[in-house]
This record gives sequence, C-alpha cells and structure tokens, in this order.
Amino acid sequence: MLDARGTGVPAIVHWGADLGDVSDADLAGLADASVAAVANAAVDVPIRLSVLPQLDQAWLGRPALALTSGDFGFQVESVEREAGLIRIALGSAACTVAVDYELTPEGLLRGRVSVANRLDSPLGVNEANLILPLPARAHELLDFSGRWSGERRPQRRAVQDGAWTRESRHGRGGHDGVFLSIAGTPGFGFRTGEVWGVHLGWSGNQRVWVERVGGSLTAVGTGELLAAGEVVLGSADTYTSPWAYGSWSDRGMDGMSERFHAFVRRTTASSDRPHPLLLNTWEAVYFDQDDAALRELADTAASVGVERFVLDDGWMAGRTDDTRGLGDWTVDRARRPDGLTPLIEQAASRGMDFGLWVEPEMLTADSATATEHPDWILRDVPGGSLPLTARHQYVLDLSIQAAFDHVLAQLDALLTEYPIAYLKWDHNRDQPTPRAHAQTLALYRLLDELHRRHPTVEIEACASGGARIDLGVLDRIVRVWPSDNNDPLERQAIYRWTSLLVPPEMFGAHLGATTSHITGRTHDLSYRLATSLFGWAGIEWDLREATGAQLSQVGMWATLYKEVRPLVARGNVVRADRDDNLWVHGIVAPDASEALFSISAVSLGDAPIPAPVQLPGLDARRRYSVELVSLGDEPRLLAVAAPPWMTADRVELPGRLLSEVGLAAPPLAPEQTVLLRVRALEA
Ligand code: DGJ
Repeated sequence: MLDARGTGVPAIVHWGADLGDVSDADLAGLADASVAAVANAAVDVPIRLSVLPQLDQAWLGRPALALTSGDFGFQVESVEREAGLIRIALGSAACTVAVDYELTPEGLLRGRVSVANRLDSPLGVNEANLILPLPARAHELLDFSGRWSGERRPQRRAVQDGAWTRESRHGRGGHDGVFLSIAGTPGFGFRTGEVWGVHLGWSGNQRVWVERVGGSLTAVGTGELLAAGEVVLGSADTYTSPWAYGSWSDRGMDGMSERFHAFVRRTTASSDRPHPLLLNTWEAVYFDQDDAALRELADTAASVGVERFVLDDGWMAGRTDDTRGLGDWTVDRARRPDGLTPLIEQAASRGMDFGLWVEPEMLTADSATATEHPDWILRDVPGGSLPLTARHQYVLDLSIQAAFDHVLAQLDALLTEYPIAYLKWDHNRDQPTPRAHAQTLALYRLLDELHRRHPTVEIEACASGGARIDLGVLDRIVRVWPSDNNDPLERQAIYRWTSLLVPPEMFGAHLGATTSHITGRTHDLSYRLATSLFGWAGIEWDLREATGAQLSQVGMWATLYKEVRPLVARGNVVRADRDDNLWVHGIVAPDASEALFSISAVSLGDAPIPAPVQLPGLDARRRYSVELVSLGDEPRLLAVAAPPWMTADRVELPGRLLSEVGLAAPPLAPEQTVLLRVRALEA
C-alpha cells in the first residue's frame, strides 16, 4: 500500500498480508495513522520509508539511487495505474525516475526503477535499487551462500542495527550467490511463521541488503551492482533496473515459494511440456567422445526409457580437454567425419531426441575466434590488457556487435543443420569485470534472438553447476542445472533450497554414478533413484556399467517418473518442519487429489525411533490412501522391526490426521529414502 497523496515522494505504508476490501476513507485513515512520531535529535518531520528513499528525505540507510548528479529533490510528476501495475514518475533537475510496482495474480510483488537523463550532459548511474519495508517482527534472516558442488547453503542470523549486505561480482549470481533473502518472524520454518522473501531477477552483478536504521526502520533493498562509470546515460537515455521480486507469506517458506512457482509457471512455457527423461553424457565419458561408445550408451539409455540423449562438452574441433577448443562451434570432423548425424540418427532410431552442450559466452586462446579476433575477448577496459583466465578460458565480449553476430550465426548454423531439440548452455567461469551490465544484457538478447529463430529448441542454463540461477535467465530457458554434484545426499540439500524459488520441473534431478565422482561416497541405487524423482529427471550415470538388475530398476523408475511428471510440473512443493535427521518433502497436486512424498535420512539421527512423520499440504477433509513405492531394494532400517503400517498394503486416513498427527517414522539408516504415493479416495 502506497501513500501517493501530495507532491512529495510517495511513502510505502504496507507490504504484507492482503488487507481485504478497504474503503478509500479507511486507506487514507490508515496512511495517516501510520505516520510515526518525530524522534529526538533528528529532523523535525516523521521519517517514512518512501518508494525512493534518499538522504534529503532524512533516510539514513542505503539510498535507492546513487547518480553522479541530481539524486535529490524529487517531486511526483505522475502516478499511473494499469491493471496490476503502478508507475510512479518522479522528477529532479537531472532526471526522471520511474518506480514500477506490479502485484501479480499470484500475489508476488515485483518492482523496478528506471532513470532517464534530463541533462544535456552525461549522467552516471551508480545505483538504482528497489527498497521495501520490513516490519520489526521480521527480525530473523535466512539467505544463502555455497561453493562449487555445494550451491545454496542456508545461513541464518538476527537482524540488528546496521546492514547485512551481500554482493556478487561474479558476473553471474555465483556458487555462493545470495539467491533469496528471507526475513521472517523468529524461528520461521517451511510451514510456520510470516516471511518476506526477496530475489533479484538478474544474471549479473548484484547487491541485496537488509538494514535496520537507527533501531527502528528496517528495509530490504536490492539492485544491480554497477561499477563506477559502467552505466553513463547520454542525453535522454534511460537505465532500467532488473525486476526485484518480493514474496510474502504467513504460511512460512512453503507459502512464499508457492507464489514464486505459480509466477514462474505462468510466465514461462516450461510447465506445459512433457519434460523428457534425459541422459547427459558428461560423467559417463567426459571428453573421451568415442562414437561407438556413445552409440552403446544411447542404446542402453533407450532400453531403460530415456527420451532425450544429450551430448556434453567435447564434440567441437580440438576440444580434447578443458584447456583448448572452446569458442568455435563446429563439429570435430577429425573424430566425426560425418558430423553429429550418425549419433543423432542413432538416438532418433531409438526414439530419443537430441541435445547438445554449448558454452557460447566463452573461448580459449587457441580457438579461431580468439586468434582472429583477440579484441573480442572481454576486457576490463576495451582494448586493455588480457584478463586472467579461469578454467583456461576467456569470456567473449558479447557487447561487441560483431562478436555477438558471430556466435549467433554459429549457433544458428548448428541448429539449422541438425535436428537439435535442446541446448545445455554452460557458463564455466566467473566474469569479474566492471562490464557485467552490458554483457548480461547481451546474453539476454542472444537467448531471445535464438529463441525467436528456433522457438522449439529448449535451453538449459548451466553455470559450472548452479552458479547462474535467477528469474532473469529463467524467463528465457526451460530449466537449470542446479549443481555438478550428483551425490544424492548433496542433491537432497540442493533441491530442498533451490526449490524455494525454482519450480521442481525446472531443475535437472539426475541419477549419478554408484560412487559419486565428486564426493567419493557410495549410495544404494534406490536412494539415488528416489532423490531424482523430485525434479526434471535425468541420468548422468554411465549406464554401460550397470548390471541387468540395475537397468531394470532404472527402467521401473523411468516408468514411474513418466507417471508422476505431470504432478511434479504442476504440484505444490511442501516440506515438513522437523529438527531431526529426517527430511520430509512432497509434491501435492493443486487440487490435493494426489501427492508424492519422500522421507529421507540425511544423517544418523539422535533418536533411535524418530518422531512421527506428518505429511503436509493434504486436504484436511478428504480421505487418502498412502502406499509405499518400491524402487527395487528396500530402504535399510536401523530397528528390529519397521512400524506396522510399512508392512501393510496401504494406510487409509483422513488428510487432517496425516498432516497433523502423521505416521510412525521409518527409522531409516543414513542416506536412505522411503517414497510414498498418496491418493485421495474420493473426489
Ligand atoms: C560444467 C557443467 O556443470 C557440467 O555438467 C559439464 O557440462 C561441464 N561443465 C562440461 O565442461
């Protein structure tokens, strides 16, 4: 709720619960009643958080704007409302600033700030942030950090005076990116507490902070992290910030993520598609791309029900390891005289479509592109010295039109020559550069143009695992690769937190090798399979190593995945709040007619008999049947006998009892999962 009366910068009165049908008079009354006292030893007017908090309004926190001139003295010039969108235009001597807010049908609030130069001279934009109020009761904060192969690790702290600021200069969110900042009432959980989650829909450098100013006002702010001089507006030019998204819930983080999921599902094409079960060749062969071996892998994949065969890194000319051969998107004719056609035809003859790995924003020094156009390498200053390499590679400067056109033409040629259904679009290095703004916009243009030319080609965003997952890129792709780590124990955690923002059908949930290539841990097949059902399923395992019995287990799982994928693609993700070693999560159909749950032991618990397992999100008034799903071998229990319900055919109980009282917990050994299918018995 905004108070846009008068000519001053409008104040934000409320962001949170829907206030219902309130008369104009009561809205005005509330706006008046919310004006605070005038503090001692402060300015002589009450301080209110405005839509553009700046120093001249006595806002002593981080300001919304930092310009090289004229970032004070704003007056309202217009307030326009259209459908769910409100645009507030403010003017100063130097610029016009528009603050847009949109309340989406899902109840998600999004906002952005644009700055248009009114001067005859250049105007530098150093910051243009969206700032939202947080109530005093939201004094616990959860956000994320992480590392390669361990993305999105939660961290909690109290909100205190001062700012908790997270910045990414990776030129992408980064493995340790903040991802989501969630402020809430103390102890908020998945199902309890009031929470305010904020995310910046941007794939470049960014900042988000939560700040309590002078012990009273608390705000959360976010915006692009711009280097000095990175955005300089010529006369009449405009800078528009990325959208910042806010999701409020009084039902804990599950309610918050429901809004994000509903928005993403409505605004992207992804959820209408069948999400084919895919096999990706990376961990099976790495760079050792022998076509005979790949054909054998494709045959085995098809025999278990795989629907898409994805050829990973190593297919390009000269790309025999990660030190070379990046940047020229042509097939290695020395190793594949007939190009990709034999492999694609082999896949097609087995009923699979074909996907291909690319990393269009990158190049190695030996590539023809780098040799012929060294000036296309992204440098801190155009024409400046070469930057440091990372994974032996450089970044292609997509803001140079010729470089952009070149890579677009190469990708276009590939997609025109071959029937490619899917691109795995990788991005394997940070871009620590003061020019990430133009690069990020150019990436979006490249994806958009490719989509325009090849509208049916699906694109996965990968960034050395999950280092670029945000609503900016999600708007242009069908799924993300959440991590390079295929160890199912690690993936349990990665899915749990990634799914707060990303709907499950939009992240790859892949079956890894028996012994994880990254952690060296060995896991039962059933645990690996159960973990891989809660997303867009795929396989990284070299199926040629699998025994006949294991292949039939994988085949059973593939059939089950195809059965449950419509549920995964539409359902509500629910997670139970527990403080022990059992993680309970599920996907419940929007009409609550069915659900899939998993109970996973992520460590050896303290209690030999854990507390009962509640199944959240079911319809309290309906009766359900609960059945164990077998994925081959039975989960290992650390007990003399399982709870009796586990050996019965099924349990039939009302939803209210399942959600509130629950089932006796399976005393699982570490890294074991029990999978449950829950179906409503009556409509
Ligand atoms: C990093 C990705 O995350 C992997 O899945 C794989 O595609 C490699 N890059 C290939 O270089």
